Amino acid sequence: MTLEPTPRHARITGTGSWLPPRRLSNDDMVTMLAARGIETSDQWIVERTGIRARHFADDGVTSSDLALHAARHALEAAGRAAADVDLIIVATSTPDMVFPSTASILQHKLGVHGCPAFDLQAVCSGFVYALAVADAMVRGGNARCALVVGAEVFSRILDFSDRTTCVLFGDGAGAVVLEASDTPGILASELHADGRHIEILCTPGTVAGGQVLGDPLLRMDGPAVFKLAVGVLDGAARAVLAKAGRSAADLDWLVPHQANIRIMQSTARKLKLPLDKLIATVDEHGNTSAASVPLALDVAVRSGRIQRGDTVMLEGVGGGFTWGAVLLDY
Ligand code: UT7
Repeated sequence: MTLEPTPRHARITGTGSWLPPRRLSNDDMVTMLAARGIETSDQWIVERTGIRARHFADDGVTSSDLALHAARHALEAAGRAAADVDLIIVATSTPDMVFPSTASILQHKLGVHGCPAFDLQAVCSGFVYALAVADAMVRGGNARCALVVGAEVFSRILDFSDRTTCVLFGDGAGAVVLEASDTPGILASELHADGRHIEILCTPGTVAGGQVLGDPLLRMDGPAVFKLAVGVLDGAARAVLAKAGRSAADLDWLVPHQANIRIMQSTARKLKLPLDKLIATVDEHGNTSAASVPLALDVAVRSGRIQRGDTVMLEGVGGGFTWGAVLLDY
C-alpha cells in the first residue's frame, strides 16, 4: 500500500458565485421603505456606504440553494466533479435550518455522500475563517479537494422598519475549490474574535419550546462596528503579511469584506495600496456577510483582474466581534 504524502500547500483551483436574480436598487428600497412611512435616499446610502443595489432571494430560496449554484461554478472552474470533493465547509449565519448543517444539505444537493461537511459561523468573517480551517485540513492530510462556501440570505433577518440596517445587506453565495498542491497557494492566515462586543452586531433570538424566543432580526450599532472594524483590519493585515514574510508592497489585490466602501478604502490607504488594487463589489452586492469575500473574489477572477500568480489578501470582519485575514498566491 502506498500512502499519499501530506501536501505542503493548499491552493485555490476554482472560484464561483451566485446572486439571486431579484435586484433592488437604492430607489427600490426608497419606495419599499416609503410604503412603511420610513425615509431614506439613494444619496444617503451611496455617500455613507457606497451601496447602489443588492439582491434578495425569492421566498423559499435558501442559503443552500444559492450555495449550490456557486459551488457548481467553482467546481466547473477548477475542472472538478462534485464526486472529487472530500470536504465541504459552508460559512453562514442564515442556515436553512437550526440543524442539520447547510453544508450537509449542500452535499446532498450536489449528489455526493460520505465526505465531512459542516457549517462555520463567524458572521461576516465566516469565509475567511472557513478558508483558514480548510487550508489547515488540507495541509494536515485530512482533505485533498475542499469546497469552501459563503452563503447567506440576510434579507430574511432584516428589520424593514429599521433604516439604519435594512438598506445595507443583501443575499448571495461565493465558493472556492481548495486543493492539495506542491506549489504555494494559501500563505498565511490570521483569525481573531473578541466576545466583549457581542451586542454591537447580533441577531439575538433563538428557537426554544417550539417558538422563537427573543428578537430574531439583525441589530447593529453601525458607528461602533465601523470604528472597531477600521482598527482591527489594519492589525490583521499587517500580522498576516508578517507571518508570510511579505510586505504590503507585495500585494497585487485586496479583497476585503464588502460592508462599506469607506472602511475598505481606509484599510487600503493604511496599507499604502493604490485604490485600483482594491476589489469592490459592495456597490452592486451590498453586504452579503459571509458570502461577500468569495463573491468579490469570483467577480475579480472572472473579469480577469486577479490573475494566476497574483498575491491577494482576503479580509473579513463582523459580528462576534470577529475578524481575520488570509494571504494567498492565486
Ligand atoms: O458586516 C459587518 C460589518 N459591518 C459594517 O462594517 C458596518 C459598519 N458601519 C457602517 O457602515 C456605518 O456606520 C453605517 C453605514 C451603518 C452608518 O453610517 P454612519 O455614517 O455611521 O451614520 P450614523 O449611523 O452615524 O447616522 C447618521 C445619520 C443619523 O441621523 P442623525 O441622528 O444624524 O439625524 C441617522 O439616523 O444618518 C441617519 N440615517 C439614515 N438616513 C437616511 C441612518 N440610516 C439612514 C438611512 N437613510 N438609511
